[in-house]
Amino acid sequence: MKDKLNNLRNKFLQELSEVKDINYLRSIELKYLSRKGELSEMLHELKDLGDDLRQEAGIMANRIKKELQEKFLEAEKLLNEDKVQATSSPDVTLPGEKSFHGHLNPITLVQNELEDLFTSLGFSVIDGPELESDYYNFTALNVPPSHPARDMQDTFYVDSKNKEGQFDLLMRTQTSSVQIRAMQKYGAPLKAVIPGRCFRNEATDARHEHTFYQVEGLVIDKDINFSNLKSFLEIVGQRLFGPNTKMRMRPKFFPFVEPGNNAEYTCFLCRGKGCRVCKYTGWLEIVGAGLVHPEVLRAGGIDPDVYSGLAFGFGLNRLAMLKYNINDVRLFNSNDLKFLEQF
Ligand code: PHE
Repeated sequence: MKDKLNNLRNKFLQELSEVKDINYLRSIELKYLSRKGELSEMLHELKDLGDDLRQEAGIMANRIKKELQEKFLEAEKLLNEDKVQATSSPDVTLPGEKSFHGHLNPITLVQNELEDLFTSLGFSVIDGPELESDYYNFTALNVPPSHPARDMQDTFYVDSKNKEGQFDLLMRTQTSSVQIRAMQKYGAPLKAVIPGRCFRNEATDARHEHTFYQVEGLVIDKDINFSNLKSFLEIVGQRLFGPNTKMRMRPKFFPFVEPGNNAEYTCFLCRGKGCRVCKYTGWLEIVGAGLVHPEVLRAGGIDPDVYSGLAFGFGLNRLAMLKYNINDVRLFNSNDLKFLEQF
């Protein structure tokens, strides 16, 4: 019995000296010191011994029990102190862990820049649905069914017909679709930009994508005229391409403005001399614009005899391509980290 007790003591002390964490310590407590542990079992066996032996072994067993409990508490205390030390004084000489930083898509960068500019000019930023009705995307913008301008903006239709048997829901082809929604919701006067994703049924190549981004601008108030439009677009050009940027406007037909125009800026690369980027014209065609057509104001619930408006639309992909020298529009949606990590 004495040998057994000594063996148990040695085993316990050996295992205790190897304790490195609290779980291991708890397993030792369970194995030796708990109510069903090895030590209790041995104490239990004492009753089977003869009187003399039982007394002697009993004294020894109790001494060992006390010793083991003390040693156990000591080990527990040490472990806790270690833990406190470990958490309160980190080793500042260890090399740091590098955390992963995501990157903003270059389109988001250009969009943020434009939003900053326009909010500083008093515009609010508003949003609209990407899945749009035929009415808001075309008809209310003065492009009724069978209007030839629809051919230039073929898109993706949702495969469900309305009560009149027509395919009525489509992926919007332009952020201009939010013009009417904004007028209906906020009325006049109104000064807003609308950034967003647009879609067209395109055969894709380095310059054409089925999914792209625009920023629309809309100002409605009394006496809004063409010189207001010109000054806004000049400010934008100078902000985007530098203070010496010049602008020219050329007539262009858009059904929802009258008169309509394209605004072009002097090429920021060759400063107007002519280069590959501007196709040797010295000018970059950046924005479609015009004065809001009276029919469109009417569709938005605004009286064209009292109010007038201006509207313009930028292609964000094109701006980002120019700004960051990107030569393939398909890269924006490619999810290619090698591309995205450059920005
Ligand atoms: N929505 C037109 C397009 O996608 C751009 C535009 C916006 C033109 C506003 C005039 C006014 O081509």
